[in-house]
Amino acid sequence: MGGFSFKNFTFFLIVVVLVWWSNFETSNARRVGKHWRHRRSDFTSLSKKKGKNHGGNHHHRGGKSKQKTHPPSPPLSPPQTPPTEPPKKGGDIAAPASSIVFNVLDFGAKGDGCTDDTKAFQAAWAAACKVEASTVNVPAEYVFLVGPISFSGPFCQHDIVFQLDGKIIAPTSSKEWGSGLLQWLEFTKLVGLTIQGSGIIDGNGAVWWQDSTYDDPIDDESKLIVPLNSTSPQNHPIPLRGNLGGKMPRIKPTALRFYGSFNVTVTGITIQNSPQCHLKFDNCIGVLVYNFKVSSPGDSPNTDGIHLQNSKDVLVRSSSLACGDDCISIQTGCTNVYIHNIDCGPGHGISIGGLGKDNTKACVSNITIRDIIMHNTMNGVRIKTWADQDQCKEYSFQTFKFLKFNYPS
Ligand SMILES: *[C@@H]1O[C@H](CO)[C@@H](O)[C@H](O)[C@H]1NC(C)=O
Ligand SMILES: *[C@@H]1O[C@H](CO)[C@@H](O)[C@H](O)[C@H]1NC(C)=O
Ligand SMILES: *[C@@H]1O[C@H](CO)[C@@H](O)[C@H](O)[C@H]1NC(C)=O
Repeated sequence: MGGFSFKNFTFFLIVVVLVWWSNFETSNARRVGKHWRHRRSDFTSLSKKKGKNHGGNHHHRGGKSKQKTHPPSPPLSPPQTPPTEPPKKGGDIAAPASSIVFNVLDFGAKGDGCTDDTKAFQAAWAAACKVEASTVNVPAEYVFLVGPISFSGPFCQHDIVFQLDGKIIAPTSSKEWGSGLLQWLEFTKLVGLTIQGSGIIDGNGAVWWQDSTYDDPIDDESKLIVPLNSTSPQNHPIPLRGNLGGKMPRIKPTALRFYGSFNVTVTGITIQNSPQCHLKFDNCIGVLVYNFKVSSPGDSPNTDGIHLQNSKDVLVRSSSLACGDDCISIQTGCTNVYIHNIDCGPGHGISIGGLGKDNTKACVSNITIRDIIMHNTMNGVRIKTWADQDQCKEYSFQTFKFLKFNYPS
């Protein structure tokens, strides 16, 4: 692994880019695209059917490792079958028929869209945390106003389900955000957590976006890059330019962030209008995202769809990502990442690597990206510059596979 020279890598990269380029340059790209689209919808309905048969909250458990270790199919051949199966089987039968449910309404949440329900969510979480495989229920047809909150789990039981069928909205008053926070909803140090359901997380980002005209996007991006050896960004939130008229802080939060967790799943839900990045995984091992949706305007500044950083064994599939920045950004320290069947656009495409500034180690390895539809995207796949190769010893730039990109006009 260590013997992989930069020269070879560069050459390899060029080959890859050429292959990729020629792939979508060929005139049958559109035809292939349509064919694939069709196949994809078949697959989606199939997996839905399967999901229904299993009912319950727990059908997604088990078989996760299977998901992640499925080998990619040979290059450039149209996939006949989806490369991965929906995460079912195995654990299903063994899973408890009913999990203990903690409904946020029972903890005092109003769900009227204007009462602050943060405390109720905290209380429901505190209760669920004590019970293995319990469920926090955020019921449909309610709108919960929830301030910045950390669902923190170093002492929590495993395999908690966050069943989100209602809507969670972020506060738009600047005082809720102090001098600026890096995230709004945070799940930390958990094992086996699943967020699922048909619900929506709405970051009410518009109030942030309008203030960011003069922000340098490059600057913002570099703030997201954390050195491998560090667990939190050293940059302190920069104070507001005064407290004039309740302006939102300059640091804009990520809507939903997972930190330091194992085997986490996000499925079914939609995250929309995040002030900044929508869904972020940082220092996680075992990440599964499927049937997930991001929906934000193409002109919303710095709103990445999914941001991966220092994370390992990641599968993202069957998702639709519309946002104002990278649909998926694969940052430093990521390895064994498999991304397929993504509808990307509007957005800036998919980016790999970081800027390598300030001693950051923008090293990634074993990234596979396939079956992506890009529309209204500024770029396809961007590979950003890497830091000094010596810093990347543990990460061989071995596998990048970009297969079947389609650009319907
Ligand atoms: C995560 O899932 C894998 C595969 O199911 C399992 O081997 C591993 O022990 C899990 N990790 C934790 C921390 O539970
Ligand atoms: C690369 O990642 C895939 C999952 O995306 C995994 O199945 C495979 O074992 C990894 N390869 C290596 C050499 O680690
Ligand atoms: C990471 O930090 C620890 C403690 O600060 C230090 O001992 C170690 O050498 C660092 N490792 C690297 C690779 O920089």
